[in-house]
Amino acid sequence: MEIAITPPTDRRFAVSLFSRLRTAKGQANPFPIYGELRSRGGVVAAPWGGHLVTAFDLCDQVLRSRDWLEPDARWREQQGDGTRWTAPSSREMSRTLPALNPPDHTWVRRSAGMFDRASLEQLSGTVGHITTRLLDSLAERLHEGEADFNALVGEELPVATIGHWLGLPTADFPRLRDLTHDQVFTQELLPSASQLAKSDAATAELRTYFTDLVRERRARPGDDPVSRWITVWDDMESDRDKADEAVYYLALFVLLAALETTSTLLSTMTLLLLEHPRQWDWLTVHPELVPAAVEESLRYDPPTHVISRVSSRDGVLGGVEVRKDEMVHLMVGAANRDPAKHEDPELFNLHRKPAHLAFSGGIHYCLGAPLARMEAQTLLHQLVRRFPRLTLVRRPSWAPRVAFRRLLNLDVALS
Ligand code: HEM
Repeated sequence: MEIAITPPTDRRFAVSLFSRLRTAKGQANPFPIYGELRSRGGVVAAPWGGHLVTAFDLCDQVLRSRDWLEPDARWREQQGDGTRWTAPSSREMSRTLPALNPPDHTWVRRSAGMFDRASLEQLSGTVGHITTRLLDSLAERLHEGEADFNALVGEELPVATIGHWLGLPTADFPRLRDLTHDQVFTQELLPSASQLAKSDAATAELRTYFTDLVRERRARPGDDPVSRWITVWDDMESDRDKADEAVYYLALFVLLAALETTSTLLSTMTLLLLEHPRQWDWLTVHPELVPAAVEESLRYDPPTHVISRVSSRDGVLGGVEVRKDEMVHLMVGAANRDPAKHEDPELFNLHRKPAHLAFSGGIHYCLGAPLARMEAQTLLHQLVRRFPRLTLVRRPSWAPRVAFRRLLNLDVALS
């Protein structure tokens, strides 16, 4: 039985810590700031209410326990009008899969039926071809001098993969990618009013795009996931409009979930290896370590640094009282470097087989993890084979986010 002790709340400390985290400098290296946070305990009061959790085992426990819920539509409405939770983009997100709780979550997740072995195998050839084409254009640029890997490859492979899978026109890819960058603000830790406005506008445009897509696929079904979701939902829901709405939310969320996260993984992984040239060299002669290098990148600096949950009842977490409906922010970027979990956590080491929370855990475990891993492994295999002399020209810059990492460039050259 745990003993409830409420620690002294040092809100000023947490406020200064978050203002530092929200700067470009803080995002270029948030880990010393996480270290300061961890030194205050595994669970620390957040300045705006709720708690910040940095201990790996506590984050893992929250993700796996049925006592903790997603901030769903009911919870968001309770926060009141005029809060970020009732912004149009937040209301829209509250209807997507990761904002649902059981029992709704259970049947929507089942209906999504994403990447089994057969569908992944089907996609692997396509991912291989897209990767080769993108690396051809990288080679051309490198022939002339330096190249922005993030723009040429990191940002391109995920949208081309998901666009192909969903059967979307290539001409739409740049617009969809830009919209997902804007939309993510409503999912950020502390969005500003102007960021929320951007997210609201992007969400409205994406709604039009995907409701049109569902309408087209209902009229002319094909061999694609949207057409399959329509068939699945027609069996589950007698009201056609409600079935179409459910399919719209699946298609919308898949796009939002798949693009920025995977781009960040591809560029971060490449950066980390180029910053550790001995491990890069090792990989060029031991490509069998490619999967391990992807996992270590996901541990060391995951694309998503914060996952949030709310408590379903009054209770205690890591010795700290948490009331019903209070929010906890699982600082998974920090938890992945918890010294209680990993030996020498600040060391990037592709020889470990790390446990990490990059894809969450429990019932919301990322449905796209097999695809993200396949893209990263395919890219890395081709990269070490074709560009063993790749080097970093300068450290990149990051967007000043907190929860969703985003590299703005990754300038590379051949040595
Ligand atoms: C490196 C790339 C990716 C990362 C780091 C990532 C991360 C995550 C995380 C942390 C969650 C759980 C959020 C929570 O627990 O509240 C999640 C959920 C989800 N992801 Fe991913 N994701 C990635 C790629 C993808 C891709 C490529 C797809 C689809 C093609 C995808 C589809 C989903 C879906 C549908 C969910 C919701 C699952 C549920 O709530 O049951 N993700 N992802």
